[in-house]
Amino acid sequence: MADIRPESMERITTEALAQAFIEEQVAELKVQIGDKKVLLALSGGVDSSVVAALLIRAIGKQLVCVHVNHGLLRKGEPEQVIEVFQKQMHANLIYVDAVDRFLNKLAGVSDPEKKRKIIGAEFIRVFEEEARKQDNIAFLAQGTIYPDILESKGVKAHHNVGGLPDDLQFELVEPVKFLYKDEVRVVGKALGLPDQMVYRQPFPGPGLGVRCVGAITRDRLEALREADAIVREEIGKLPEVPWQYFCAIPDFQSTGIKYVDGKGERYMGWAVIIRAVNTVDAVTATVPEIPFSVLCRIRDRIVENVNGVNRVCWDISSKPVATIEWE
Ligand code: XMP
Repeated sequence: MADIRPESMERITTEALAQAFIEEQVAELKVQIGDKKVLLALSGGVDSSVVAALLIRAIGKQLVCVHVNHGLLRKGEPEQVIEVFQKQMHANLIYVDAVDRFLNKLAGVSDPEKKRKIIGAEFIRVFEEEARKQDNIAFLAQGTIYPDILESKGVKAHHNVGGLPDDLQFELVEPVKFLYKDEVRVVGKALGLPDQMVYRQPFPGPGLGVRCVGAITRDRLEALREADAIVREEIGKLPEVPWQYFCAIPDFQSTGIKYVDGKGERYMGWAVIIRAVNTVDAVTATVPEIPFSVLCRIRDRIVENVNGVNRVCWDISSKPVATIEWE
């Protein structure tokens, strides 16, 4: 089939349309796959999660999901993937704890593009190793969506790290390749995926790696993860939630003061930067107003609970001239 969305295809905006799409896809996937096995890299993002849920419905345990924890995921993400897919949907899920592998490879690397390449290449390597452990895989499922086809000829991640080697070139299964993001969400909801997954804000493939500025260290990465969870919780409660909101943590320290037995002592700590943006297409972005009381609550929770952080800043830069991410 040509990679062009059929003109007759109705926009999926309702639960009923989503259910019709699901039924049709499940029937097609059953015929296409037969009794063979399908491999899927399941990040927990909207697209791969919807593909997983569709395939679980169509072929059950013939789907082999691989969830790679590269150590750069947000707080609670690997646990949620296991909870939803293994415990609730009874998927055939392989969880790969590759945290040490990634963090060791990244140690001392401060150049943002090198960091992205290392993360992308290591991801392919880990996935390849898992693929080689499996017998009878005939298909590779991918969460390609229509904008990926329109914008980058079907290439999903935008780091230039190549793909799986020639002997692991499986036939592709891309059941949501003609859907726009909003349609993928409607289908995800109809498949019973939790709102947290379906309405997840965009999150870069290299994850917290591009927000832990400079060379990543485990303690600073942990501080970022904890601070980010607080920012997401507090800003997520606003009546109008920004398009994307998160934390970055630069690789320098500034002076702080703490009181030990009533005596002030100076020490060096990290600054956490709150970032929140509104945008339509991520090409330009503006900064929404956030009530000062919310910012103060975030500050208090971070400095009281996150080890090593003594300062909280709010990034009010639009794009351009700043990018959304800090690296
Ligand atoms: P920037 O920082 O370029 O980000 O203004 C625009 C949007 O793209 C996301 N982003 C990435 N996504 N891999 C990804 O999959 C990346 O390396 C990457 N860098 C930025 C960013 O979160 C924002 O939504």
